[in-house]
Amino acid sequence: MSHESLKTVQLTVGGKTITLPILTGTDGPSVIDIRTLYAETGLLTYDPGFTSTASCDSTITFIDGDKGRLLYRGYPIEQLVEQSDFMEVSYLLMYGELPNVSQRAHFSQDITYHTLVHEQISDFYSGFGRDAHPMAIMVGVVGALSSFYHNSKETQDESTREVACWRLIAKMPTLAAMAYNYSVGRPFTYPKNNLSYAGNFLRMMFSVPSEEYILSPVLERAMDRILVLHADHEQNASTSTVRLAGSSAANPFACIASGIAALWGPAHGGANEAVLSMLTEIGTADRIPEFIKRAKDKNDPFRLMGFGHRIYKNYDPRAKIMRETCHEVLAELGVKNDPLLTLAMELERIALEDPYFIEKKLYPNVDFYSGIIFRAMKIPVSMFTVIFAVARTVGWVSQWREMISDPMQKIGRPRQLYRGNIERPFVPVEKRG
Ligand code: ACO
Repeated sequence: MSHESLKTVQLTVGGKTITLPILTGTDGPSVIDIRTLYAETGLLTYDPGFTSTASCDSTITFIDGDKGRLLYRGYPIEQLVEQSDFMEVSYLLMYGELPNVSQRAHFSQDITYHTLVHEQISDFYSGFGRDAHPMAIMVGVVGALSSFYHNSKETQDESTREVACWRLIAKMPTLAAMAYNYSVGRPFTYPKNNLSYAGNFLRMMFSVPSEEYILSPVLERAMDRILVLHADHEQNASTSTVRLAGSSAANPFACIASGIAALWGPAHGGANEAVLSMLTEIGTADRIPEFIKRAKDKNDPFRLMGFGHRIYKNYDPRAKIMRETCHEVLAELGVKNDPLLTLAMELERIALEDPYFIEKKLYPNVDFYSGIIFRAMKIPVSMFTVIFAVARTVGWVSQWREMISDPMQKIGRPRQLYRGNIERPFVPVEKRG
């Protein structure tokens, strides 16, 4: 339905008609501006899960879910993955334009200057059990950074905000690699700033002091692509969490920790881990129909992990790139026939021909193939979502920064439809039944 010519909508409540403006963006659906609704009618709107609610005004990322398009600041994700890299994309997301040569060099310096973490941060790690999930560690240590940068809560100062963003982008790979090394009992590796962002991350994860680390350009490129693909995705659950936490002017490090917590869930970033467990559980292609049947059964909580998306009602463009990258990485690593990849492709083929998945427009999402690439790169399953968090940090900080500098910004404070008890008198314990 096209609403392009509409400028306002009328709503009649109990004989009173009010006019609500329609705000039009540069692309995507227009929105009804309901800010005066409560004052004028005493009514609220009800939209659990925000399926019809625009929570903010943003210029960063655009998704066309019906066409399967994803743009960062107007640039198609396919072109950025092919022609750019994570550092440039980070600049683009933060500042709105691709950097020129000098801006790129300065930005790279601004980031690498902050890659080290305070030595006392390593003490936090020893407090965690060896079997702690690295996402649990990340929620803790990123939140703990707020105690080292207390003045970052001066969020009204633009340069303080900018430095907090640089610090977060710079320190996330260091902290993530420390989480991994802690879990396997290896010493922490300091960052090496002459490497690329992806290369430095891989080296910190996998190098040991006793051996010379040789960085594979194939893995470096694959990691860079993965980071670009996950860098931002407009107002998803974790980004909205960061915005909501940040709307109270909370310390940005604490806000990003809240985003990491939201990302962890299997319905969001944790799905890549769940996809691999699901494929392992399916095991062989002959068992696919059984799992498809379970996914369609309303009485079975099982869902096909890595399938479906709130916004994409067509193929997730990131999944397409992931599938290609998956083939490239496996070929270059000399993996001839990866049984999980073969199984995943067969599962995708069967699901995409099934009327249930066709009708509900359920396509593979970004998480469907990423786990297989990570596995080929020898990245442990528990680190999958951590890598997602490393990549998404630039999206989170860009959205946080945009929110704080928005003159319309207010503390986020949703309302509710109350269905609890009406007021009643307190009953002393001896009189309760
Ligand atoms: N398998 C089977 N059925 C599904 C699936 C799935 N993966 N996803 C959705 N459906 C069905 C639902 O049962 C529902 O059916 P109904 O209308 O008969 O009740 C319908 O499709 C719509 O699903 P909702 O859950 O209402 O859609 P929503 O937009 O709320 O959820 C979500 C999107 C959470 C991603 C969902 O598709 C899902 O759980 N997928 C599996 C987990 C996953 O891969 N998450 C990663 C998302 S991408 C990311 O965060 C990076």
